[in-house]
Amino acid sequence: MCGIFAYLNYQVPRTRKEIFETLVKGLQRLEYRGYDSAGIAVDGPDKTSTDINSNTICLIKKTGKVKALDEELYKKDTLDLDAELFTHFGIAHTRWATHGEPSAVNSHPHRSDKDNEFVVIHNGIITNYKELKAYLINKGYEFESETDTEVIPKLIKYVYDNRESDNISFSKLVERVIQQLEGAFALVFKSRHFPADAVCTRRGSPLLIGVRSEHELLTENISVQYNSGHSKEGVIEKNSHNRPDCSDSINSVGDGRAVEYYFASDASAIIEHTNKVLYLEDNDIAAVTGGKLSIHRMSRQAGEDPVRAIQTLQMEMQQIMKGNFDAFMQKEIFEQPESVVNTMRGRICFDSNKVVLGGLKDHLKEIKRCRRLIMIGCGTSFYATVATRQILEELTELPVMVELASDFLDRNTPVFRDDVCFFISQSGETADTLMALHYCKNRGALTVGITNTVGSSICRETDCGVHINAGPEIGVASTKAYTSQIVSLIMFCLMMSEDRLSLQNRRTEILNGLRVLPEMIKKVLTLDEKIKTIANELYQQRSLLVMGRGFNYATCLEGALKIKEITYMHSEGILAGELKHGPLALIDKDMPVIMVIMKDSCYVKCQNALQQVTARSGRPIILCCQDDHEVIKNAYQTIELPQTVDCLQGILSIIPLQMLSFHLAVLRGYDVDCPRNLAKSVTVE
Ligand code: F6R
Repeated sequence: MCGIFAYLNYQVPRTRKEIFETLVKGLQRLEYRGYDSAGIAVDGPDKTSTDINSNTICLIKKTGKVKALDEELYKKDTLDLDAELFTHFGIAHTRWATHGEPSAVNSHPHRSDKDNEFVVIHNGIITNYKELKAYLINKGYEFESETDTEVIPKLIKYVYDNRESDNISFSKLVERVIQQLEGAFALVFKSRHFPADAVCTRRGSPLLIGVRSEHELLTENISVQYNSGHSKEGVIEKNSHNRPDCSDSINSVGDGRAVEYYFASDASAIIEHTNKVLYLEDNDIAAVTGGKLSIHRMSRQAGEDPVRAIQTLQMEMQQIMKGNFDAFMQKEIFEQPESVVNTMRGRICFDSNKVVLGGLKDHLKEIKRCRRLIMIGCGTSFYATVATRQILEELTELPVMVELASDFLDRNTPVFRDDVCFFISQSGETADTLMALHYCKNRGALTVGITNTVGSSICRETDCGVHINAGPEIGVASTKAYTSQIVSLIMFCLMMSEDRLSLQNRRTEILNGLRVLPEMIKKVLTLDEKIKTIANELYQQRSLLVMGRGFNYATCLEGALKIKEITYMHSEGILAGELKHGPLALIDKDMPVIMVIMKDSCYVKCQNALQQVTARSGRPIILCCQDDHEVIKNAYQTIELPQTVDCLQGILSIIPLQMLSFHLAVLRGYDVDCPRNLAKSVTVE
């Protein structure tokens, strides 16, 4: 729910102003993860500290978006902006409140005491914070915030104050702290006792480190050092779907010469500085001491990889910029002709009707033999499973369950060793989905990740998987990830059914549809002006119903979700077959209704629903196939779409609803990319 960013320049002269700029820019890239308050910690001096003579740490925090913090930084007359800091470590955080209201005191960094001996930024949730807090209060520590995070700096000070030797290292202190923590965290620590050193760690929340150096790095692979013994070199398995191959490795990166390190919740904050990154695993403790980065762990578990590779990110800076669009969401909607191509690239051979998903091919036999396919996700990612359930059933001829991760866990759903469980997640970090993954793994099922974020937790922890390759999605409301998730799952169906003679005509029809899909999406995008006009008519309404069935039931659920999350209008996706079982009571001449009526096997039934709506004086706005005069004559307004194969039609029909929600939100005066109370990556349950 929060974004972490930190920057360490070792023997690279930077003015304090430059350091501020780097920290603020890093936070701005992460603002989609949370944006109710923000803060930084940099080296002092600061008049508020009781000890201004040595190694002071200055905290600056502000409620509101990162922009408010940015303005605040330049108000500190105690800080010389032009001062050159040859070696320095600064940490920064943008928050989305979980414990404690958004306020300066509840925002991060949190501190150990009034002298800021230790300061910490945290993403995640500490579930045993109440017990820890009671213990520390009993020991005389005073708390100032309502957050769970504050126990962490207090705890590290407690460990430091009670250390048995003066030689204890910063990373050892952190190791002792995380042994006491339960829950999920990515943490970065800064301390007056270890000036210019950095320590960070993670468990369940994402964290990566970028490295930039003018000189050649000594290695691209770094061996983990274990407390229990000497470090071992290892080779990462080649068949893992998300790991590079690597061989030589040493214990640390950086040889005491000039180097810069960037610590962040995701790569979008790092890519403008360096494309060399290292993803931490759960319970890794990474420390930079004297400019050298090393990684430590308590002990080595069986099968654990002892090497962390510095990977080269392929992401382009321009991919994460807004370009000519007013909002990231709008840009991402318009990227869909390209993003679906990227999802299919290198995986489909249209000449031979073959589909190969490299990350799944070695597991295909096992998947074909399974008892059930269980598709698990949250929000939009869940709706992608609803959108593809029917075609999954048809082409795999297996029972398919679609599950909301939270509900799946609440029910303690029975899972068996011969089940195959799919985890669909744009971010690859959603806590509910990740917990469902752990649940299924513990029960011996084969786990498959469908994610958009290379190196994410779900991607790393599943047995195999598919990267949807939609490119970074920054707008909080998911758009292009949804359509690429659908394409990925359909490609999976096609791969599963390759040897089924009776399904070949159907496969060919779908493959032909996929071939022209980008062109069709482009046609749908030309409807933008028309949709804007419809939005102009609707934007003052309080409610908006979206109705359909069959392959387009998911379109209604996802369309309604888009509308409610960014326009704050009430919106409901209704299965047209359920109309007479209740929702029909809502229909009158004033209730805006969008109906999705496509030429598929539900066409006649949808027309019946249309009759029921018009008979109650409803004035439906209808998404229908081009020139469908039968439907058009009963519509109040129409949005005519190109017709494609039934299972792909939902990709085309969601786009007008994405555009509609965007225009409604703009007309209502809301920040499209940062809807209130929501964050892009939901890393708490
Ligand atoms: C809605 C939206 C959310 C996410 C959900 C799961 O626009 O973005 O509903 O789909 O929080 O997130 P991921 O896909 O990252 O697991």
